[in-house]
Amino acid sequence: MTKMTVIGCGYLGAVHAACMARSGHEVIGIDVDAPKVESLLAGKAPFYEPGFEDVLVEALESGRLTFTTDLGAVKGSTVHFVCVGTPQRAGENAADMTYVDAAVNGLAPHLSPGDLVVGKSTVPVGTAARLASIVSAHQSTALLAWNPEFLREGFAVQDTLSPDRLVYGLPPAPHAEVAKAMLDEVYAQPLAAGTPLVTTDYATAELVKAAANSFLATKISFINAMAEVCEAAGADVAQLADAIGHDVRIGRRFLNAGLGFGGGCLSKDIRAFMARAGELGADQALAFLREIDSINMRRRVRMVDLAREVCGGSIVGRHIAVLGAAFKPNSDDIRDSPALNVAAQMQLQGATVTVTDPEALANARRVWPNLHYADTAMQAAAGADLVLLLTEWEEYRTIDPDELATVVAGRRMLDGRNALEPTQWRNAGWTYRALGRP
Ligand code: UDX
Repeated sequence: MTKMTVIGCGYLGAVHAACMARSGHEVIGIDVDAPKVESLLAGKAPFYEPGFEDVLVEALESGRLTFTTDLGAVKGSTVHFVCVGTPQRAGENAADMTYVDAAVNGLAPHLSPGDLVVGKSTVPVGTAARLASIVSAHQSTALLAWNPEFLREGFAVQDTLSPDRLVYGLPPAPHAEVAKAMLDEVYAQPLAAGTPLVTTDYATAELVKAAANSFLATKISFINAMAEVCEAAGADVAQLADAIGHDVRIGRRFLNAGLGFGGGCLSKDIRAFMARAGELGADQALAFLREIDSINMRRRVRMVDLAREVCGGSIVGRHIAVLGAAFKPNSDDIRDSPALNVAAQMQLQGATVTVTDPEALANARRVWPNLHYADTAMQAAAGADLVLLLTEWEEYRTIDPDELATVVAGRRMLDGRNALEPTQWRNAGWTYRALGRP
């Protein structure tokens, strides 16, 4: 059992804290946001994440988990996870390191001899080495390790309890063994279950995360580039993805063509990676990521163009229903949401847009107050000239075209996620269009 603190209780930190307590450790979650701390202490998740609230409540009841706003609470714990955010800097590609720097500078004076600080945030390569010197300046026997996190929203609990790999970026010898032993105790359960472990240096560990997200973004933009060619050639990108996906070297996962990626990670991480490579003089190596970003952003513009096309050349004055506001299903996260981006563009171009989502409406309303909102797909689609499916929640995938037809003004469906069965919709009298399909 390790006594640990988790600094930063956002998506990553809150899930990590609760899952560590569930694994038998004693955990104190620390965050500067008092309402968030109160919500977590009350067993209420401050965001929608399947299964998280159960783990949270169980961990609080076990007495092994608590939350506070007081950084002084780190005294008595030996391992300190840094889980604060690294958003994109305003007006730049680079990551904003304000929160990471504040967390480590705030933590360092409270460290006890032999403590281990563990970075989990996604950071530019070189950060761990810089932070290690801040740590040792305050407490000469304290160590720092980098332990990137790969959790996916919607699967955060599962990914934290049973990760597909663990990566330790360790300090140079002779400290590496000490830090590794402390991390092995923290991750005793997944290690015993056979989770692959990669031990490496700081820089490699930091780059693993940037490389993994770049690869995933590249896979999605690759298939979306194929979708553009398919559109020009009258071919079907969904069948193309199935066919190339059978090659195990390629694989079918993350080859779903559509509106592309959004969220709090992929876009900002590839941009920060390009910015950092530039500082290191290796910008040419990542020039392709600029193209990955452009392909991704073009899908949003193309979606609006397609809406115009099926509405006969103009969306001015048209009533449009948008199914989905979250950046992906099973999440209420609307950061860089492709769905809301398209909804807002259409509204700005003169359409009346009504958005619905099972979980993300409160967040969407706050950030996009000028859009219209409805609680259900049927309400959003009432009187609509056009319906767009932009986030593939299960309840939208299984919508009955005949039932939806009873409320709309015009049977036009744009499937932004290739989530529907085209023949089913066409047979029900709908004009069905999707990205990358004839
Ligand atoms: C991602 C990484 O997967 C995760 O490992 C990392 O820790 C954080 O960033 P997440 O942002 O939760 O996780 O979402 P992910 O499931 O990767 O989806 C990202 C976006 O890509 C979503 O908008 C999704 O709709 C889109 N996507 C995904 C596609 O457009 N096509 C696909 O085939 C897969």
